[in-house]
Amino acid sequence: MARLSRRSALISGGALGALGALGTSSPAQARSPLRWTWQPSGSVAGSGAGADPRWVWDEEADPLLASLLDRGVIPKVNELLWNWERNEQALPAGLPSDLRDFMEHARRMPPWADKNKLERAAEFNKSRGIYLNLCNGPGGGILATAIPNEARSVYYSAGGADMEDRVAKTSLFGFAVGSLDAYRPGGSCVIECVKTRLVHAAVRHLLQQSPHWKGDIPISQEDMLVTWHTLPTFAMRKMREWNVPISKADSDAYLHVWQVTAYLLGIKEEYIPADWEAAYAQSDQILPRNMGPTPEGVKLTDILLGQLAEQTSPASISRPLCNALARYLVGDQVADWDGIPREPVWDRLLPQMWPLLVRFREGLVPLPLVPEAAWTIDEALRQYILFYLTKGKETKIEIPTHNRPE
Ligand code: HEM
Repeated sequence: MARLSRRSALISGGALGALGALGTSSPAQARSPLRWTWQPSGSVAGSGAGADPRWVWDEEADPLLASLLDRGVIPKVNELLWNWERNEQALPAGLPSDLRDFMEHARRMPPWADKNKLERAAEFNKSRGIYLNLCNGPGGGILATAIPNEARSVYYSAGGADMEDRVAKTSLFGFAVGSLDAYRPGGSCVIECVKTRLVHAAVRHLLQQSPHWKGDIPISQEDMLVTWHTLPTFAMRKMREWNVPISKADSDAYLHVWQVTAYLLGIKEEYIPADWEAAYAQSDQILPRNMGPTPEGVKLTDILLGQLAEQTSPASISRPLCNALARYLVGDQVADWDGIPREPVWDRLLPQMWPLLVRFREGLVPLPLVPEAAWTIDEALRQYILFYLTKGKETKIEIPTHNRPE
């Protein structure tokens, strides 16, 4: 906490009353707990106990990772899993037998996975890549910093000390979900999901030992759902808002790829929404009570936007444009919580230009109607996306063995 500037703390504190996007009426900390009323009848399982997901974690993976960490075998496991990269690939020899048994089971596709829908989703991801990458990359990243539980977990876990590497690892995951062969034998989505499930279980064990960690066991099923909604649900809502034409078959397929992903990440079937209606209802119930400002979130946002502005081409994308794109994506309320500065020029131009760019891309307006400033935004966007897509190639997801160093 010592590294957080006074300015960051002031910004996050001062934003407590902000209202705005995402249906959030007041920040997470200021609200009394709400009852979980979302029904398992709206889930892919169709039924279930209906337990509040705030008090459910991952009963298969959690004790296993605690035991592996206590036995000191994680460095060896990471080494063995380094080259485990393709969905069809057998597990490497030499893994502890309890881990091997778990992984053999965890890597299996759910019985309801629909190959045709997954193929369709892959095509949709390709054709709508620009919007999806924007929403799931920078959009999801900035939203995550306005989720107190997530911002604190990320900040105080090992990866919090090296955000560049963390962004790279997360984009590796995003890249796997969005790629054409995501769930084909040669793809890597199953691998990245199972590795991430192991990482999360390790974090649940480790963070509770951090002197900075206060509160319950981290990364509950509800936390997982919240983050999940900042990915497909947020992206679908944004694309609808931008009037991107999407057929029902495509939107169903896109949901499906994320239902399978949720399952492989260890989200219980009774919580995975069966259709968009159920997804929106669940998102509206849990996002408001889980979003708000934190000093950690402000700091992480600053690092994220600073990285984008530094590492993409300086000629085409500046920090003010980065700030404005982030604000445009996540809305004023979240941007204020995250301490993103207002940008008088770009904050005004972006909302005018973006819809034009979308309409041009969708073939709805001809070129002469798209003004020059729009192309700067378009180019910035390309740089943004390139940044996210290439970062991931430099690293692999590994199970942490410690928290953020003091
Ligand atoms: C790690 C994705 C939910 C906290 C990771 C990684 C991925 C990932 C790909 C591995 C990359 C890395 O190690 O940095 C996801 C997805 C989620 C989700 C797709 C939901 C759909 C959450 C939630 C929290 C969380 C809800 C906390 C409340 C963390 C932390 C790490 C991590 C602390 C480890 C960072 C480290 O190694 O220090 N997640 N995550 N994640 N995730 Fe998640």
